[in-house]
Amino acid sequence: MKQRIPIVVMSCFFALSTLSAFTFAGEEKRPPETVTIKLDGSKLPPVTFSHTIHTEKTKLECVTCHHKDTDPKQPEACTKCHPAAGGKGEAPGAKDVFHKQCQTCHKESSAKDVKAPTKCNECHKK
Ligand code: HEC
Ligand code: HEC
Ligand code: HEC
Ligand code: HEC
Repeated sequence: MKQRIPIVVMSCFFALSTLSAFTFAGEEKRPPETVTIKLDGSKLPPVTFSHTIHTEKTKLECVTCHHKDTDPKQPEACTKCHPAAGGKGEAPGAKDVFHKQCQTCHKESSAKDVKAPTKCNECHKK
């Protein structure tokens, strides 16, 4: 009897991983855990952005940031509409919108309950 246990355990494990692979395929695409944001020609250190902190710990909706995508769960890069070199049509330039979106929320959050980075070198980290 004893030798059979590992086989049972193994097949359970196999069944579970197959199952989770199926569930995963049917669900939304998970965002990349972290993205390094660096605009063309930038001089300051690039900004590391964590989806895990913002969507799992802080529980923000995708659409809060990916605001103009037809499907906010399959978004395009911000720079598709907000170019690094300044505004295109009605969409303002990338540096301004990043600062607006990231900093507005961080200031509000820090003023209320949860401290979030507001100083230059807390985002532009060496
Ligand atoms: C909440 C995060 C955050 C804070 C705080 C912040 N920035 Fe940024 N900043 C960004 C992001 C994101 C970008 C776009 C990515 C990049 O760095 O190229 C950016 C881009 C820039 C750019 C254009 C790209 C470059 O590197 O030349 C400049 C200049 C800049 N920030 C200056 C500042 C200064 C000065 C401060 C402090 C007064 C500051 N930022 C604070 C997030 C932040
Ligand atoms: C707090 C803001 C914020 C939230 C919330 C957020 N994202 Fe993002 N996401 C970003 C930023 C910023 C980038 C980098 C975009 C860039 O480089 O232009 C990004 C990049 C992405 C990319 C890569 C896009 C590309 O091709 O460059 C995907 C995919 C993505 N996010 C999916 C998601 C999904 C799915 C959710 C919800 C579960 C989500 N994001 C929630 C800010 C956010
Ligand atoms: C499909 C095009 C598109 C994409 C992708 C996009 N935006 Fe926008 N965004 C716009 C347009 C157009 C406007 C101006 C009109 C408006 O505010 O409704 C805008 C406005 C904004 C504003 C308000 C600016 C102001 O001065 O009031 C912020 C902040 C912003 N975008 C941040 C972002 C960030 C951050 C991303 C990536 C996570 C992003 N946007 C992705 C098209 C886009
Ligand atoms: C709607 C609110 C909101 C927006 C938009 C937002 N953040 Fe945050 N961010 C938070 C909160 C809240 C925390 C603190 C999380 C905690 O510690 O529990 C945080 C934490 C962080 C941290 C520190 C944790 C870490 O990853 O090291 C960085 C860096 C950061 N944010 C970068 C950004 C950047 C860059 C953007 C814009 C692309 C952005 N955030 C947009 C709410 C926001």
